[in-house]
Amino acid sequence: MKIRKAIFPVGGLGTRFLPATKAMPKEMLPVVDKPLIQYAVEEAAAAGVEEFIFVTGRNKSAIEDHFDHSTELENVLQAKGKSEALITVQQMMREPGSVSYVRQQEPAGLGHAVWCARNQVGSEPVAVLLADDLILGTPALQEMVDAYRDGNMVAVMEVSPEETSSYGIITPDHEKGPLITVKGLIEKPAPEKAPSNLAVVGRYIIEPGVFTNLAEGHKGAGGEIQLTDALASRIGKAAFAGLKFSGQRYDCGSKIGFIKANMAFALQRPELRAELHKWLAEQISS
Ligand code: G1P
Repeated sequence: MKIRKAIFPVGGLGTRFLPATKAMPKEMLPVVDKPLIQYAVEEAAAAGVEEFIFVTGRNKSAIEDHFDHSTELENVLQAKGKSEALITVQQMMREPGSVSYVRQQEPAGLGHAVWCARNQVGSEPVAVLLADDLILGTPALQEMVDAYRDGNMVAVMEVSPEETSSYGIITPDHEKGPLITVKGLIEKPAPEKAPSNLAVVGRYIIEPGVFTNLAEGHKGAGGEIQLTDALASRIGKAAFAGLKFSGQRYDCGSKIGFIKANMAFALQRPELRAELHKWLAEQISS
């Protein structure tokens, strides 16, 4: 089934990356030379998404500018014959009218952010991508779209038992290849309360019933409106699957994850790989 729309919740304050994020959105932090949010948008576009809905907040205008023309820059690149750089900035443009922005207005949780996009989504299934979760290798959303039939779907991966309190955790039912039927979902359980070690990473496909639940405004973990709770409320009413994606996920919401992502993505780049590899080996042996 085709998923035409995607929501990008980008309203978070990014307090874990201060002072870098004081005046700059955390989603604009670069991995090598590309902002996190651009990786997420490209993953969505590659999976067939045509409409991009950003749920923003104050101080996020750099994201809007990033996905718009910069006429001065393009003119200078053109005049100086820097055609590769010109292609880079022009290729990331989306079709006029296909990008929209809504303000979350208050940081009331991921569920609240998603609900803020309800009028842009209408009554069709929509993808949700969290730019903090960066995936190297096969794009996870493409794998999900390929496997999606109806209902709700989340990308899942195994985490160590002591990490369950950082994630939404599923109760798996039966498994078939990478697909798992989900019979329960709980936000950030303590290890002793976790139903499994299968954690949700920031890729979702959600059906309209989730918005109906979000509209009720129930507060969950941390006093916030949780997407996890809205998804859990749909179990039994709509199909619910977890997909063990095949890429490698980096948690760019944490400093160590962000640093690892930079290393891993740089090692994929032919022009950087040899020198970085050599330098890393020297660091480790010293
Ligand atoms: C959010 C979700 C959580 C999910 C995680 C994936 O948490 O609430 O269920 O497992 O993203 O990154 P956050 O990382 O925003 O605290």
